[in-house]
Amino acid sequence: MNTQNNLGGAFTFPGTSITVKRMGYGAMQVAGPHVFGPPKDVNAALAVLREAVESGVNHIDTSDFYGPHITNQIIKQALHPYGKDLTIVTKVGARRGDDSSWIMDTSPEFLRQSVEDNLRNLSLDVLPIVNLRVGGVSAPSEASITEPLTVLAELQQQGLIQHIGLSNVSQKQFDEARPITKIVCVQNYYNVAHREDDGFLDRLNAEGVAYVPFFPLGGFTPLQSSTLDDAASALRTTPMVVALAWLLQRSSNMLLIPGTSSVAHLRENISAASLQLSQDISDKLNEMGHVSVI
Ligand SMILES: NC(=O)c1ccc[n+]([C@@H]2O[C@H](COP(=O)([O-])OP(=O)(O)OC[C@H]3O[C@@H](n4cnc5c(N)ncnc54)[C@H](OP(=O)(O)O)[C@@H]3O)[C@@H](O)[C@H]2O)c1
Repeated sequence: MNTQNNLGGAFTFPGTSITVKRMGYGAMQVAGPHVFGPPKDVNAALAVLREAVESGVNHIDTSDFYGPHITNQIIKQALHPYGKDLTIVTKVGARRGDDSSWIMDTSPEFLRQSVEDNLRNLSLDVLPIVNLRVGGVSAPSEASITEPLTVLAELQQQGLIQHIGLSNVSQKQFDEARPITKIVCVQNYYNVAHREDDGFLDRLNAEGVAYVPFFPLGGFTPLQSSTLDDAASALRTTPMVVALAWLLQRSSNMLLIPGTSSVAHLRENISAASLQLSQDISDKLNEMGHVSVI
């Protein structure tokens, strides 16, 4: 492990005994093209997961709809039996069509089945944190989440889930959730160039709730920006590393789960946790949320 890099320091999910390093790993890229079917190179996928954990990463984000099932099975193959301090966070609320399409499904039967599928494919007795994933592909809708969240709360009472988070939600949906169960994290679309959640992020920080951005590097359309390029040249690193460093410095409740299928990119991404951005560079990056990206 790189002793110079503390992976962004530790964060404890509110009201839990779960503490993770702020630099984690998102396992979506472990599956094949379009997050469907097996990876082109299973050994490379196993190597990325093992290297992440050997580097000190102890927060892995996944879902049984990656693959489907395949990403979880590869996590199990790479890392089971899991170390005591490893937290695997999963999400439910969608399934895959035979044509690789993403089908949102928060019906009670399907949510129960999804929790069982995650337990089986990850070989866990209890899921540490499950995110209820709602809304569209990358933006929330304002539909009520009471019914599906109540199903997860029941599964929590039955001991199959320890803690619950939300994904792709609005502040209104977060408020709707509070009386039903404690919410320990929110996983929404956010990065240096996509900042609709700035206010929500600050509110969650004040409340001690983790904010876990998906698409931190732009997801299927990786970030491209002359501001990132200039900062990377000045800091002798890559634009992706700068984008991750900015996120870590943006807020202390920010937990990162960048996704990659490559050990080289994983190492690069982890290096972001030891990159200090000057005030001048941070100010320029802050402006990226207000201008269109090239
Ligand atoms: N809740 C949700 O709805 C939702 C949606 C999407 C994702 N997620 C979660 O969020 C995690 C992160 O999102 P993501 O993986 O979709 O997107 P991302 O982390 O923004 O970007 C991943 C893309 O960036 C590339 N990449 C990664 N590191 C790089 C580097 N250092 N240099 C150049 N390219 C690099 C990857 O390609 P290579 O494989 O070639 O490195 C991949 O194409 C996922 O793994 C998943 O766990 C959640």
